[in-house]
Amino acid sequence: MPDRTLQISPSILSADFANLERELARIGSADWAHVDVMDNHFVPNLTLGLPVVEALARVSPVPLDCHLMIEDPDRWAPGYAEAGARSVTFHVEAVADAVATARAIRSAGARAAIALRPGTAFEPYEELLDEVDMVLVMTVEPGFGGQSFMDDQMPKVRAVREAVRRRGGEIWVQVDGGVSADTIGRCVEAGADVFVAGSAVYGAADAAGQIARLRGLAGRHQHRVPPPRG
Ligand code: DX5
Ligand code: ZN
Repeated sequence: MPDRTLQISPSILSADFANLERELARIGSADWAHVDVMDNHFVPNLTLGLPVVEALARVSPVPLDCHLMIEDPDRWAPGYAEAGARSVTFHVEAVADAVATARAIRSAGARAAIALRPGTAFEPYEELLDEVDMVLVMTVEPGFGGQSFMDDQMPKVRAVREAVRRRGGEIWVQVDGGVSADTIGRCVEAGADVFVAGSAVYGAADAAGQIARLRGLAGRHQHRVPPPRG
């Protein structure tokens, strides 16, 4: 099996919200900019919405990876693709019709992804792999940056990776929450290939240096992944 391409998606949740254009310029060496949209209902925090995403898409040096932590993504998610996000992730716990929502996101020109809170099992959603480009396994309770990484989510990452492998095709497995130089190796070994890092990147004086460091560490762990069974 060829090596997975490993991608870094710094979360601007930990950036200086008064200077977002400048903060995006700091992560030009990343693969994506992760944008956390929170509505104060699905999670107890409120960040930004469509008009801000539209503005960010105009100035970002890298494509936007929008993570919607909102109620009623059926109604709102496709608009984020129209606003210029290249990947739009909605939560399975919030969506009414995941298939229709994923299809609407793709029709609007973006990659579609599902996200799972730490308490949500993957198995009931496995058949959605036919409709999505990525699965996001949360490694903290969604809502805030800077929380501790939940190691107990690694079996879920393994289960998603195994299901993706069985099915074939190119579906990415993203981890989000507490990803740092200390934890990224475990995520790679479990089968993740897209790494969201908020405080680890924006908390560093040299964001580009930190992105390079995370990439290097991830790459080193990749070769320790055991070959797939069966
Ligand atoms: C949490 C967000 C994350 C957050 C991660 O609800 O979805 O994207 O920014 O921040 P860190 O990397 O600091 O845990
Ligand atoms: Zn996120």
